[in-house]
Amino acid sequence: MTRITYIEHDGTRHEVNAEDGTSVMQTALDNMVPGIVGDCGGSCSCATCHAYIDPDHLARVSPPEADERHLLEGALDVEPCSRLTCQIRIHPGLEGLTVRIPVSQY
Ligand code: FES
Repeated sequence: MTRITYIEHDGTRHEVNAEDGTSVMQTALDNMVPGIVGDCGGSCSCATCHAYIDPDHLARVSPPEADERHLLEGALDVEPCSRLTCQIRIHPGLEGLTVRIPVSQY
């Protein structure tokens, strides 16, 4: 299990224990974190799982593939630390990862 913290646009925090091997998006859904929807089920085709990775933690997350980068170009409120959370697999190296959810996800 790996501890992940989600922070909603209003500052509400959700600290959850994530199962290694699943995605940051699926973990949010499993723990009923508002703002991460995951309409496409994680197939990198909807961008409803958009969130910001804490810049201090970004180096621990594998970089986005071309399809994720392309989809993010059409997302709202994109920042340099934006990621599609369905494309980030949980592993022990992500212990303490913090994810902020854009206001446009609500
Ligand atoms: S859940 Fe659709 S792109 Fe991530």
